[in-house]
Amino acid sequence: MRSPGRRTVVLSSRTPAMKRPLLSSARKHGRNPVSVFLFFVLILVVLMYSEDFNSIADYSLRNSRAKSQELAHQELAIAKPRHEGLILDSTKVAEEEAEEEERKEARPVLQREGSDAIAREQPPTDEEGRQEPEREGARASVTVNVTQVARLPSARNQGHEQQSVISDQHKSEAKPQRVVLNVPETCDLFEGRWVYDDVSYPLYKEHECQFLTEQVTCMRNGRRDDNYQKWRWQPRDCSLPRFDARVLLERLRGKRLMFVGDSLNRNQWESMVCLVQSGIPWGKKTLTKNGSLNVFRAEDYNATVEFYWAPFLVESNADDPRIHSVPNRVITNSIAKHGKHWKGVDYLIFNTYIWWMNTPKMTVLRGSTKYSRIERAAAYRRVLRIWARWVHRNVNPKKTMVFFMSLSPNHMRSEDWDNPEGIKCALETMPVTDMSRPLEVGTDWRLFAVEESVIQSMRLPVSFIKITALSEFRKDAHTSVHTLRQGKLLTAEQQADPATFADCIHWCLPGLPDTWNEFLYARIASRPWPNQHTHTHRSHTNLSVSHLVH
Ligand SMILES: *[C@@H]1O[C@H](CO)[C@@H](O)[C@H](O)[C@H]1NC(C)=O
Ligand SMILES: *[C@@H]1O[C@H](CO)[C@@H](O)[C@H](O)[C@H]1NC(C)=O
Repeated sequence: MRSPGRRTVVLSSRTPAMKRPLLSSARKHGRNPVSVFLFFVLILVVLMYSEDFNSIADYSLRNSRAKSQELAHQELAIAKPRHEGLILDSTKVAEEEAEEEERKEARPVLQREGSDAIAREQPPTDEEGRQEPEREGARASVTVNVTQVARLPSARNQGHEQQSVISDQHKSEAKPQRVVLNVPETCDLFEGRWVYDDVSYPLYKEHECQFLTEQVTCMRNGRRDDNYQKWRWQPRDCSLPRFDARVLLERLRGKRLMFVGDSLNRNQWESMVCLVQSGIPWGKKTLTKNGSLNVFRAEDYNATVEFYWAPFLVESNADDPRIHSVPNRVITNSIAKHGKHWKGVDYLIFNTYIWWMNTPKMTVLRGSTKYSRIERAAAYRRVLRIWARWVHRNVNPKKTMVFFMSLSPNHMRSEDWDNPEGIKCALETMPVTDMSRPLEVGTDWRLFAVEESVIQSMRLPVSFIKITALSEFRKDAHTSVHTLRQGKLLTAEQQADPATFADCIHWCLPGLPDTWNEFLYARIASRPWPNQHTHTHRSHTNLSVSHLVH
């Protein structure tokens, strides 16, 4: 079932070189037909083995953002394909296969149900997608080393095993299970590496999620390589559990989850809709768009996954969800008009970044006529303080979990990752693997520092989801020329001109934002259920997944 053909095999340049001497020595002994035969068998064996050994299956891109000169060591691991480790342990293979079967069964047949409920969005003219943010000096530097390791540590499969345990629970499930994932709050999920894993990923197929907008369906829009869909994030100190729609839906039962922010948060919302919709049968899910609010509803769960457009969080002249390409961006100090739509929501996920990157200074409207020009980082801090005040006044921490997504990085200059032949992000099919020098892709890390300090200063717990550094490696994951511009797919001529038209801000789906949602999933589903006693359900293969029984 898991045939070797499913993995990408990269033959190293060694293979042809090894082949030639063997062939020539075979010719020397050509008189003896038996020895010729044996040599060909030998060649075959050598080729088979070299294919295996040279499969560059895992790039471990350990990531770390260096704050206050902390050195981060980054590894490039070239390891054998993931399934090899498992073949040694047949029970694990069986477990994985059973799980794979179950995943297939759970998958809804491809359909276009409720398509009248799906208002195909007239996507906003992605003005933000075309503007290059200027470079900022104040970025923390990252020092990296390259080490080559033959094998990854055994921790690499933990996330998957943990998932198997949870899936087991579903098999015998008569009534909903209250699963609690075992992801310690103390584990830094954002320190780790990217691992190529075409067995567990992608988490859904592009054509299986009818809710995806054309902005992000890169394969349908003509992209040829799909390796960007197959990278798993492996935290250094623990595992990121594989997303399970039913586990999250159980958490969302009778509840609302809402993304609030700019088009990157919309990108992530689309990912979340696709991730959960696989757990919901035909005709029991709808998506409606009404002004600034998009609502995906899972009927049987009475649950919603929503997106609210507020690119600066505070009120601004970019708040129109369709016509927001304004030449001069003006923000205000008020948040109440947006905030009233966020009240009472059970899971709130905020972001704001890309709209700040247009100009070094922001225009802030005070009162009704007074404008002032404020330097970007200072204006950002003021806005986040206004946001924090809103959270303090309006969020009940017993009911609501609050998240803040850190900056989503852009990849505008291929020189940033030493590809002078590149054109922005357009020709990239692999994450950054050259860890021999610091990665600088123009992220304004000052704003990251503002996010961190404002969140740390809050009385109310806000979970800061630090996607910035780990996403900086993913130059391969942007929509590039396989997307829309002003509501229309790029023409062939436009696609042929990535220097002008490539979108190196937004991300293809399935893709990187699915990983961001796995962070949310890990945090949400690791919380104990209220008013219930936890007990450890079972623990094997070094995992303990506790769950609660009614
Ligand atoms: C459905 O969920 C909403 C919150 O999203 C809640 O207010 C309402 O009571 C729920 N209805 C039922 C029937 O559970
Ligand atoms: C759309 O949103 C507005 C304002 O939030 C609300 O008054 C209206 O009822 C909504 N329309 C639909 C069809 O849900």
